[in-house]
Parts: sequence; C-alpha cells; structure tokens
Amino acid sequence: MGILDLTVAAGILRRGGVVAMPTETVYGLAADAFNERAVARVFEAKARPSFDPLIVHVCDEAMAERVAAEAPPLARRLMARFWPGPLTLVLPKRPEVPPLVTSGLETVAVRMPDHSLALSLIRESGCPLAAPSANPFGYVSPTTAEHVRQQLGDKIDGIVDGGACRVGVESTIVGFGRDGGLRLLRPGGVTVEDIEAVAGEKCWTLDVECSMFDVPSASRDDGNIEHPTSNIQHRTIAPGMLPQHYAPRVPVRCVTSGWDGTLPEAWRGKRIGWLGLRRPSHGALFATVECLSEEGDVRLAASRLFAAMRRLDAADLCGIVAELVPDAGLGLAINDRLRRAAGAL
Ligand code: TXA
Ligand code: MG
Repeated sequence: MGILDLTVAAGILRRGGVVAMPTETVYGLAADAFNERAVARVFEAKARPSFDPLIVHVCDEAMAERVAAEAPPLARRLMARFWPGPLTLVLPKRPEVPPLVTSGLETVAVRMPDHSLALSLIRESGCPLAAPSANPFGYVSPTTAEHVRQQLGDKIDGIVDGGACRVGVESTIVGFGRDGGLRLLRPGGVTVEDIEAVAGEKCWTLDVECSMFDVPSASRDDGNIEHPTSNIQHRTIAPGMLPQHYAPRVPVRCVTSGWDGTLPEAWRGKRIGWLGLRRPSHGALFATVECLSEEGDVRLAASRLFAAMRRLDAADLCGIVAELVPDAGLGLAINDRLRRAAGAL
C-alpha cells in the first residue's frame, strides 16, 4: 500500500478497490458507490457498523442525479450556492444505490467536494464515490495522508496524497422535513448562518428526547464543566451521529470559558492536556498545551482541531481539558466535535 498517482487510483476504484482521497474537509475512504462489494470493504476496513450510512461524492450535478431521485427546489438552491463545498444534502435515493450505502434508508447523502484531486478522481473513475471519513470507526477523522496511513494503511489499496485538508472538520449535513423545511443533521464546514441566509428560513435541529425540532441549546453553565447528560438538544436524527464519535482514546472533559481550574478528582496531579483556542489561564495544571488560534480565528482552529487531538492522544496523558469556543459560525462544528470527543452528546 502506498501513495497513488491519480490515474492509478481511478483504475483501482473502477475495478472495485478502496482508496483514501483528500477532500477539503477530511480524508475519505472511497469506493464505487454502485459496487456493493467494494462498499462492503470500506465498512470492513473502518470496522464501521452497517447501520451508519455513507456519503456519496459526486463531481457534478448530473452525477448527483444518478444517485438521488429528486432534489427539492431548496436543495437545488443550496447546491448552486455551496457546491463544490462542505455541504452534504440528504435526498431521496435512486433504487440503483445499494442499500448498504444508505443503511437501508430511502434517502442518500450526497456532496460535491471542493478539492481538485477529489473531483478529478471522481471524474476519472467515472463512479460516484461512497466515502466515509478514512479513520477507524469512532476515532478522530484524518486531515493528512499520514493520519490515514498510520491507522488504515494495511487495510486499503492506497492513498491519494493531497496534503493537509483546508477546512479540517467534516461537511455540514442537512436534510428536508416532510414539510420541505431544512433540518440540520450535523454542523460542519458550511455555517448554519450561511445556509439560513441562502435558504431564507431557519435550519432546525431535532430534539430526540421531545421528538420535536428545536434550536441547538446553549451550553449549560454548570460550574463551567459540561456533564455528559446536559446536551440532549444537540442530538440529531442522522444515523451514526453517536456519542463518542470523533473521540481520542484519552478521556476528554469540556469546559466553558471562565473555567475555575477545578479538575475531576481522578485527574489531580496527573499528566493533563489542554485543548483550546488560546493558552489556559491555569497553565501550571497542564503537561501539554494545544492552542488552536491565539487570535481566536475559528476557521484556523477548525483546520487544526483533529491534528491537535491526535497529538494530545499520543502525549501519554491521563485526560484532556477542552475549552468550548463561542457557539456561532464554525464554532458550532468545533463544539460538536469537542462534545462528541467527551461523549457529552
Ligand atoms: O466531510 C465529510 O462529510 C467527510 C468527507 C470524507 O466527505 N465524510 C464524512 O463521512 O464525514 P462520515 O461517514 O464520517 O459521516 C457520514 C455521516 C453518517 O455518519 C450519517 O450521520 C450521515 O453522514 N448520513 C449518511 N447518509 C445519511 C442519510 N441517508 N440520512 C441521514 N444521515 C446520513
Ligand atoms: Mg466519520
């Protein structure tokens, strides 16, 4: 297994192989979406449960029409504005798409990545590519080819190396309710504010507990430590949006700004890591510090988030304190990943 030339990679995909590809968000593990055996290999390489459906990547709208049976006018407007880009749309599927891709759902998630290598690979292979993030199930998504090689190198047919991913968090996923209205299934690289501005309507999040749509709750201010049960309103209907997704192996606790420095009992005096936009005010507590952007630039912070989590995971720590960022713009996606890493969603 090694780094592949684009033409070689496209040939492997046409013959039912499995190849990691760069996108603007994270690396994906790609297979021909119409080849059920190839898709099965993707699930196997990731040890991904079959109830967690994949996103199908296309290079143009004509290819999107080969997988999605129809797109409501609102979906077309969003495509026109945000494709290529980090927005995934959940649409009614065509019967030709194997049920394994969609975990038996009648819908399919489709996106056009904003990455020249990904688009060329899709075009050259001629297949829509089913591609989850190229990490073992439940672990942090890869943002470099080296991340993919370390964890899946011996399980796949090769990697197309496109350097570090520009956006760094996965795509935003939206679906459409029975009323045609917008549903946010996962915050990601396109901000909800931008989507709402184009849609001219609110993008609702499903509150599973109440079986109704609700806006994301503000993080509960509870001694500035977030508890695993406090964010019920952030749960979504997207299958696979499970707690403990995007998680490093080291336990993570989320805190909000103004945290008083109190650590969980079991962590006191141990090697602890810090993950935040800026340096911690209780610096002496930390063996390792990861600052995502001293200037508070959330875009930069998103692009650095997963690599920082991986470094902390490799730093022989007992725990990681992660400071949530303001819940707006890309901050919503960053906080979602931090809370999932903490198992608090
Ligand atoms: O940025 C991204 O979206 C990256 C790159 C590789 O494109 N891909 C990615 O895929 O994050 P993955 O498999 O890690 O996440 C896909 C998620 C699933 O876990 C599920 O929540 C949602 O997409 N999904 C897929 N099909 C769906 C469907 N038919 N209905 C609702 N949610 C769906
Ligand atoms: Mg993933």
